[in-house]
Amino acid sequence: MVKVLFVCLGNICRSPAGEATFNEIVKERGLQEYLQADSAGIMGWHVGKKPDPRTIKNAEKHGITITHLGKKLAKADLDDFDHIVVMDEKNFEDVHKFYYDTKGVPPPADKLFLIRDFDPTVRGVHEVIDPYYEGEEVFEEVFQILWRSNEALINFLVEKHHIVLPEEE
Ligand code: 4NP
Repeated sequence: MVKVLFVCLGNICRSPAGEATFNEIVKERGLQEYLQADSAGIMGWHVGKKPDPRTIKNAEKHGITITHLGKKLAKADLDDFDHIVVMDEKNFEDVHKFYYDTKGVPPPADKLFLIRDFDPTVRGVHEVIDPYYEGEEVFEEVFQILWRSNEALINFLVEKHHIVLPEEE
């Protein structure tokens, strides 16, 4: 099982949507035995709480039920997850520092990714906008960014980890 941890600042807007869209695409493609996502926040403000109601409502619009409860990124996550996928450059810096401070070495090159590196509509460094102080339409924009980026991320992981569905053998 390849495990992916989505990380944002608060773990109530972007990363729960990242986790949910990833797991939905995995389900649609029949890859549940091979790929699995979870999510966590840099900060522990919302530990044990449901995601932002706008995140839940927007996912429901797409037929996706989010059951995740807030978590704070923990040291054990650095080993428990094969890949950590972040939303913006500040998240990247924070996780990179957390890894370095915990382990005394930087994360391996294939450990930490910015999700929009996989967004097929952009090139270069792009971020997933934080919708927390924005309107509901930004939650939909975030959902769309995460959906298309996760389709490409999953393609990448299938190749990288040599995942072959039984009927493709
Ligand atoms: P997220 O958004 O990092 O996408 O979950 C935020 C959620 C909460 C806060 C900031 C950003 N906050 O300040 O509580």
